[in-house]
Amino acid sequence: MRAPHSGHDRLTTMSPFDMIVFGGTGDLAMRKLMPALLHRCIDGQIDAASRIVGVGRSNVSADAYTKRVEEACRKSMGGDFTERSWSAFVPCLDYVAVDAASEDGFSGLQRLLGPGPSGNGDAAAPGRVRVFYLATAPDLFGPTCVNLGRAGLVTPETRVVLEKPIGRDLSSSRAINDAVGSVFREEQIFRIDHYLGKEAVQNLLALRFANTLFEPVWNASGVDHLQITVAETLGIEGRGGYYDHSGALRDMVQNHMLQLLCLTTMEPPARFEPDAIRDEKRKVLHALRPLTDAEVVTHTVRGQYRAGVVDGKQVPGYVDEIDRSGDPSSTETFVAIKGEIANWRWGGVPFYLRTGKRLAGRGSEIVVQFRDVPHDIFPIANTRLVPNRLIIRVQPDEGIRLDLMTKVPGTGGMRLRPAPLDLSFAEEFHGRSPEAYERLLLDVVRGDSTLFMRRDEIEAAWSWVEPILQVWEDSSEPPRSYPAGSWGPSSAIALIERDGRTWSENLD
Ligand code: BG6
Repeated sequence: MRAPHSGHDRLTTMSPFDMIVFGGTGDLAMRKLMPALLHRCIDGQIDAASRIVGVGRSNVSADAYTKRVEEACRKSMGGDFTERSWSAFVPCLDYVAVDAASEDGFSGLQRLLGPGPSGNGDAAAPGRVRVFYLATAPDLFGPTCVNLGRAGLVTPETRVVLEKPIGRDLSSSRAINDAVGSVFREEQIFRIDHYLGKEAVQNLLALRFANTLFEPVWNASGVDHLQITVAETLGIEGRGGYYDHSGALRDMVQNHMLQLLCLTTMEPPARFEPDAIRDEKRKVLHALRPLTDAEVVTHTVRGQYRAGVVDGKQVPGYVDEIDRSGDPSSTETFVAIKGEIANWRWGGVPFYLRTGKRLAGRGSEIVVQFRDVPHDIFPIANTRLVPNRLIIRVQPDEGIRLDLMTKVPGTGGMRLRPAPLDLSFAEEFHGRSPEAYERLLLDVVRGDSTLFMRRDEIEAAWSWVEPILQVWEDSSEPPRSYPAGSWGPSSAIALIERDGRTWSENLD
């Protein structure tokens, strides 16, 4: 038997850089960004002369901020947190209070980053990469960039990272992109979708474009339909202020799920290069057939969870969780959509998207269901030939599974049933699988935008989502209620079963 491979054999230390995180005291910075940077520091990729600066509105000292980051890292990293690695990370950390919306709030940052007697001349050295990571509400992206420009903080080696969602709809997204684009060139702008940094998602590119096996059947002749599910057991986790203005369509579908769909269905790019890949993704987004108003009613389901039991624990319903003092909310925490890519490769092949919070299980997967055999030569009572399914497990337990029909061993005649060919990345490649942000943050420092979204992709995605938002907003019907701990409203099951298909039960 072959020994499993380690996945981590090419780690290089980056030249010293500055990463300034706006929203530095927020949920994303504390739960994801700081632990990701500490992990990269543990692996020796962050030079001790690098600076990681949290920026927030609150007036806390650098020491108090460091303490908060330490607590957050301990919590999220568990056994991977060590005192030794933490002491190597602490000298890189700093904090500055800035009101991103006001021009004069930027002087503290100027003092820290600019050249001059404060001893930071070095940090402004030509060629030193400076990254502004905007982990704030999207309406602050434009003003923050304009203020950074006015304060003279944008050098040729400066990059800006924008968290999703960029805007609430097409026009607000355009306005944000225009404002950011008035300060930064397109190649300096990194629009992050952390799903693109997930190992299994990158593996989808390897599966499709480093193997010949599937390509001949990866089209309407070979594929019956596609399914993408992103299921969460978590609720809103204190993000009610953001979430109640967003909802699952803006939070998950417009970005993560459409990006997964693009990578699953795009044409082979000529090269593994940012624009070659992004051109192909954009073509898929442009080919999404817009839903008519009547189809929004028949082809989409929006739901909202009520109280229920998740992982054995009683949890409150959405409205109580976000504390609207009993007021109803029409924000959806679940979405299911049936759509179609109107192009030569995929015409007539439906895709089904499904995502929700407080569902019965946590897991994300892409299912490619192939067509039925053209003729069944095994007319055996009680045996139905189940079509082949390829399942890309994005999380947890990343891997790839191919379901094949097989003969059940035995002399009792030809009995058949489906059995899996299962590749688990954890078993094949030992070692820890890095979190998406670890890869993406360093890609920004390297200037590699392959796994980031271009402006035209974002706008094409909004164009497809907008008519759905519009019909929902105009509708007097509230989202359908589902109990926390279920798989969403029963109409989501009906949506696919009407077509004689079923949701994959892999996640159940
Ligand atoms: C974020 C959404 O982008 O993705 C969250 O804003 C969601 O609502 C999260 O919980 C899911 O990410 P992951 O990596 O846990 O699947």
